[in-house]
Amino acid sequence: MSNVTALAPHTRVLIAGCGDVGTRLGLQLAAAGAQVWGLRRDPSRLPAAIAPFAADLADGRGLAALPAGLDAVVYCAAADGPGEAAYRAAYLDGPRRLLDALEARGERVRRLLFTSSTAVYAIDDGREVDEDTPAEPVHPTARLLRAGEEALREGPYPATVIRFGGLYGPGRERLLRLLRSPAGASCVPGVYSNRIHVHDAARALAHLLALPTPAPLYLGVDDTPAPLCEVLDWLAAQLGTAPPRRLAVDPAEDSRRGNKRCLNKRLRDAGFAFTFPSYREGYADMLKSAPRV
Ligand SMILES: NC(=O)c1ccc[n+]([C@@H]2O[C@H](COP(=O)([O-])OP(=O)(O)OC[C@H]3O[C@@H](n4cnc5c(N)ncnc54)[C@H](OP(=O)(O)O)[C@@H]3O)[C@@H](O)[C@H]2O)c1
Repeated sequence: MSNVTALAPHTRVLIAGCGDVGTRLGLQLAAAGAQVWGLRRDPSRLPAAIAPFAADLADGRGLAALPAGLDAVVYCAAADGPGEAAYRAAYLDGPRRLLDALEARGERVRRLLFTSSTAVYAIDDGREVDEDTPAEPVHPTARLLRAGEEALREGPYPATVIRFGGLYGPGRERLLRLLRSPAGASCVPGVYSNRIHVHDAARALAHLLALPTPAPLYLGVDDTPAPLCEVLDWLAAQLGTAPPRRLAVDPAEDSRRGNKRCLNKRLRDAGFAFTFPSYREGYADMLKSAPRV
């Protein structure tokens, strides 16, 4: 279930960082009657239902010409790479510059959403995490994300942060590629992973936009935190590949993700129902329609 149709028609929404999730969201909102702008550095290939808006959030280029009379802004830009400079640009400089530009124009935005990540929780003992769990990141990139959340919260507009787990869906076939590669995939037994299908990530944003009084924070994860080994075993069985190798130690690549079980009760209590409540439904759907990778 989604209450996106509860969004008032002609609501004016800016999607700042209109990529995969943002475009899916924009199409849903436009179909419900909203007027939607998609901001990115190169907006030339956005679908026709989303008005293109070229600007650079990191250096502010183009932001002086933002559309006027915006009701809602969704900040869902993603870093260009894994390093600190890219994270600072996307998650701290970008939100600050956007807030400055909105304020300079005297905009009265009624709703601001920011897509953050469950990476802000530096938890590695597999315990449950919800919105009341303190987010005290240790990794420098996670600290930048957390600082971006705060920058928006301290701004003049009512802000809601949604911390997504790992996004997966069409075009995001990393696990499938690993399993099919000659080296195969690997995992550390007992290490949990948390995810949300991109389709549900966009639906969740639309749902929060239409709530009369959203909470300041939601975890955006499906119903099923699961050990990565379990996910890979299930996928290997679907694909007919070798199961993942078990490793004793987490490779450095995965150390940012930690080991935690993120809970979505607050999002569900807000009336949101998942199309893909677990990796099984989500990947089954991808395997039905996806080209071989
Ligand atoms: N991937 C995950 O597993 C994961 C997990 C948790 C949270 N998230 C968050 O979820 C959100 C949505 O992710 P996504 O997969 O939809 O990302 P995406 O497809 O990579 O889209 C991000 C968009 O941001 C735009 N962008 C980046 N830097 C910009 C800048 N300086 N100025 C203007 N636009 C800029 C890019 O367009 P241009 O290049 O044309 O500018 C791109 O369209 C992001 O905030 C991401 O951090 C992702």
